[in-house]
Amino acid sequence: MHCVVTGGSSGIGRATAIRCAQAGARTVLIQYQKNRDGAEQTAERIEAAGAQPTLVAADLSQADDRHRLVAAAWQPSDRVDAWFHIAGADVLTGTAQQWSFDDKLTRLWEVDVHGTISLARAVAERMLTQPAGPATPAMLFTGWDQATEGMEGDAGQMFGPIKAAVMAYSRSLAQTLAPRVRVNCVAPGWIQTAWGDTANDSWQQRARAQALMNRWGTADDVAAMAVHLCSGDSEFITAQTINVNGGWNRRPHNAP
Ligand SMILES: NC(=O)c1ccc[n+]([C@@H]2O[C@H](COP(=O)([O-])OP(=O)(O)OC[C@H]3O[C@@H](n4cnc5c(N)ncnc54)[C@H](OP(=O)(O)O)[C@@H]3O)[C@@H](O)[C@H]2O)c1
Repeated sequence: MHCVVTGGSSGIGRATAIRCAQAGARTVLIQYQKNRDGAEQTAERIEAAGAQPTLVAADLSQADDRHRLVAAAWQPSDRVDAWFHIAGADVLTGTAQQWSFDDKLTRLWEVDVHGTISLARAVAERMLTQPAGPATPAMLFTGWDQATEGMEGDAGQMFGPIKAAVMAYSRSLAQTLAPRVRVNCVAPGWIQTAWGDTANDSWQQRARAQALMNRWGTADDVAAMAVHLCSGDSEFITAQTINVNGGWNRRPHNAP
C-alpha cells in the first residue's frame, strides 16, 4: 500500500501518516509546507513503524507546487492507494493571528478550498488511470463539525464557509468518481493541536463541555477514522462525512 498525506509535518496529518505506516503501508509520502523539522520527525516515526517515508515540500496555493507533488506521489509506486487531504492554512497561531479578517479568509480560500480542490482533481485523474490494486483507491478530505451549523465570531465566519465548501466538494467528487475511487471526509470537532495547546481557559472549558465524551479530541482520534475510511475495511463507504467530535453535547450545561 502506498499512501500520501498532505499536512504531514504536524497535528492530524502527522498522526494520519504514522497510522498509515502502522496499518501496513509500505511507502508514505508526507507533504509539508515550511516545517521541515516536523516532517522529519514524522518520517522517523514512519520508519520505526516499518514503512519508507518520502518528504515533499509544497505550498498548495501554488499550481507548480501542486503539479510537482502529484508527480512525486507516483514515483515510489505506479499506484496511490490512499490520498489524505489534511493540510490547511493556520491562521490562528503565529504571525497570521495579526492578519485582517479578509487576509485570513483569502489564505484559507487559496489553500484549503482552491488549492485542495485543484490538487484533488489532478489526483483523481491519476487514480482513474493507474493499475488496479487490492482495494478501491480512496481519497479523504478534512472538514469541520460545526461548519454547516455555524459558530459565532470571526473563526466561525471564516472556517464555516471554508470547511463547508470542502465537505460539499468531497461529496460531489465522490459522485463523480464512483465506483472507481471512494471519497470520504472527516469533520473533526475540538482537536488539541497547535491552537488547542495555547487556547485560554474559557476555550479549554468550552472544548471539553461541547463533547459528550467531555474531553478534547486528539489528532490520533481523527487519524484512526481517516485511515479506516481509506482502508479495505470500508469498501462500501463513500460520499460520507463522519464527525470525529466526541458527540456534540446538546444537554443544557449544569443540568441535574
Ligand atoms: N485542530 C482542530 O481542532 C481542527 C478542527 C477541524 C478541522 N481541522 C482541520 O484539520 C487539518 C489539520 O489541522 P491541524 O490542527 O492538524 O493543523 P496543523 O498542525 O496546523 O497542520 C497543518 C498542516 O498543513 C500544512 N500547511 C499549512 N499551510 C499550507 C500550505 N499553504 N500548503 C501546504 N501545506 C500547508 C502545514 O505545513 P507546515 O507546518 O509544514 O507549513 C501542516 O503540515 C486542517 O485542515 C484543519 O483546518 C482542525
